[in-house]
Amino acid sequence: MAKVTGWMKTNKLIAILLVGIVVILVGGIAYMGVAKATDKPEFCGSACHEMAPYHTAWSTGPHKDISCVECHVDSSEMAKLQHKIVALKEVAKHFAGDTSFPRATAADVPDARCIHVTPAPTRRSRASITRPTPRVSRA
Ligand code: HEC
Repeated sequence: MAKVTGWMKTNKLIAILLVGIVVILVGGIAYMGVAKATDKPEFCGSACHEMAPYHTAWSTGPHKDISCVECHVDSSEMAKLQHKIVALKEVAKHFAGDTSFPRATAADVPDARCIHVTPAPTRRSRASITRPTPRVSRA
């Protein structure tokens, strides 16, 4: 140990750099693990009480093989990171007693996130789509 601390004293800059790299690596790997786990629909449905009915609807619907984040978040890592911050704010609101989420804001799901998976219906295919009963509009 004395040898290591002696080396660290003489090579302070290298030691700081090495510790920095280790911290960044460990932090990065931990973040990726947490990010992957919290991207899963099971997490959305079980960890967050307010999301449970949406998870139930999704799990019985035609999109049950598509992850929530594929429709609700852009695919870039930056967008996903930003969404984690949004989700953390929702968690904070929950514990502050505000359960208005997710009804407080309308979901923002641009067409571009879907049409690369399911092409926009043509006039002919549109005719065969069975439309769901329209929802009662939110006040
Ligand atoms: C195939 C794409 C798709 C998937 C997969 C999907 N959603 Fe959605 N979701 C949508 C769209 C589109 C809307 C907007 C509906 C509307 O306009 O009211 C929406 C709306 C919502 C809303 C807001 C509802 C409201 O009243 O405003 C919540 C919450 C939600 N989804 C949660 C989830 C969760 C949780 C999952 C996964 C378990 C999920 N969604 C999976 C497309 C998707």
